Amino acid sequence: MIVTGALYQCKPVLSRQNLWFFVRVPYWHRAYDNLTIFIMRIKKIFNESEEIVVSKKELRQFVLNCMKAAGSPADHANQLADILITSDYRGHYSHGLNRLGVYITDVETKACSVEGTPEILKEKGSTAWVDGCNLLGPVVGNFCMDLAIKKAREFGIGWVVAKGSNHFGIAGWYAMRALNEGLAGMAFTNTSPCVFPTRSSEKSLGSNPICMAAPGNHGDSFFLDMASTTVAYGKIEVVEKRGATKIPAGWGANPEGRETRDPKVVLNGGGLLPLGGQEASGGYKGTGLCMMVEILCGIMGGSAYGANIRQWKTTETAADLGQCFVAIDPDCFAPGFNDRLQGFMDSTRNLKPLDANESVLVAGDPERSHMAMCDDLDGIVYKKTQLVHLNELASRLDVPMFKAKTLSVFASDDKNVMDL
Ligand SMILES: NC(=O)c1ccc[n+]([C@@H]2O[C@H](COP(=O)([O-])OP(=O)(O)OC[C@H]3O[C@@H](n4cnc5c(N)ncnc54)[C@H](O)[C@@H]3O)[C@@H](O)[C@H]2O)c1
Repeated sequence: MIVTGALYQCKPVLSRQNLWFFVRVPYWHRAYDNLTIFIMRIKKIFNESEEIVVSKKELRQFVLNCMKAAGSPADHANQLADILITSDYRGHYSHGLNRLGVYITDVETKACSVEGTPEILKEKGSTAWVDGCNLLGPVVGNFCMDLAIKKAREFGIGWVVAKGSNHFGIAGWYAMRALNEGLAGMAFTNTSPCVFPTRSSEKSLGSNPICMAAPGNHGDSFFLDMASTTVAYGKIEVVEKRGATKIPAGWGANPEGRETRDPKVVLNGGGLLPLGGQEASGGYKGTGLCMMVEILCGIMGGSAYGANIRQWKTTETAADLGQCFVAIDPDCFAPGFNDRLQGFMDSTRNLKPLDANESVLVAGDPERSHMAMCDDLDGIVYKKTQLVHLNELASRLDVPMFKAKTLSVFASDDKNVMDL
């Protein structure tokens, strides 16, 4: 039997109970087709004393309560909650609840505005230039991508560039808005300087993410959502919170810009290496990608750019980030885009793997697998140490902590515990 289509298209032939396990394991149809092995597998991956599951509803209420206490209007808080929860659901823990404190500080210190709507400064056919008016990044990003979608409907493409924005979270959120309309979407942002360009001992670039999402058939899609560094900065924060003392080569550098494997050194004055790592392994291409995103965002948008962007987690000045949002209607070009893309993705997935235990994936597949797992567990799974920082936030803002459950494979009753 050949695996075709999106991994989650296996749904009709698999029970919800064992779906996520099978989407992580190639050739699932050949073996392991029973719940017992699914549970054994889950117990192997997770440790009862360390892992918890939190429902999206609990998470949303927590984010809304915190943002309200900080002074944010409900509409803005809801837009932020959407993106933070989606990040964790997709497995990008770097940009989910892990980042809540940053948005709260921006609102509390008034480094970011809480009133108003973004303004269109210039508009010509399929393009627009927007002032984000220093509002929360998701508020600006949603406004701009919705405008790009509207223009794509009218002209075939919508290209919107913003200045005056703030941290917008995962770029994928905005590309997904276009995808949900049957369009291809792209999103980019500049960020605070945390990257050593190849050969530099100074940080002058952001981890400037790139996302491109395009529709296949039956809800399947190509979904590339990545930092232009080897990993997002937040991923190093998360692995360090989860207890790692060593990170893979090519991720980070010490304060002098030399590669280090110690996450604490990266997080304490060090920084990131561009995608590809050091020069010998192609890091200069990552440097080029970081700069390309900056051209589309800060240089084109007239916002702060490069080393002029405020330092990460400082609030004395507005972030004034530049962002770029593109929506494209594939029907404007050769007919049959979705079928061709689907065939392309399927043939890639069906390539003979190097290792029989690891099938070839297409961008977006790891996230689909993670979402299937969360659906199966009826919430988002976290390692407790990942969320400890939220206790301090909750008590400072006088907001009730969310309830969490132990993994249901370990306990028959859903204990409402928050024992971080
Ligand atoms: N707002 C910001 O300032 C900012 C900055 C940097 C990154 N980010 C966000 O951080 C998130 C994480 O970025 P990252 O670069 O660490 O992500 P990542 O390295 O985990 O994944 C990057 C991409 O690679 C794909 N992928 C992963 N494994 C694969 C495999 N084996 N085969 C094929 N494709 C595979 C994923 O589907 C994803 O599209 C992204 O959502 C990004 O938008 C945001």
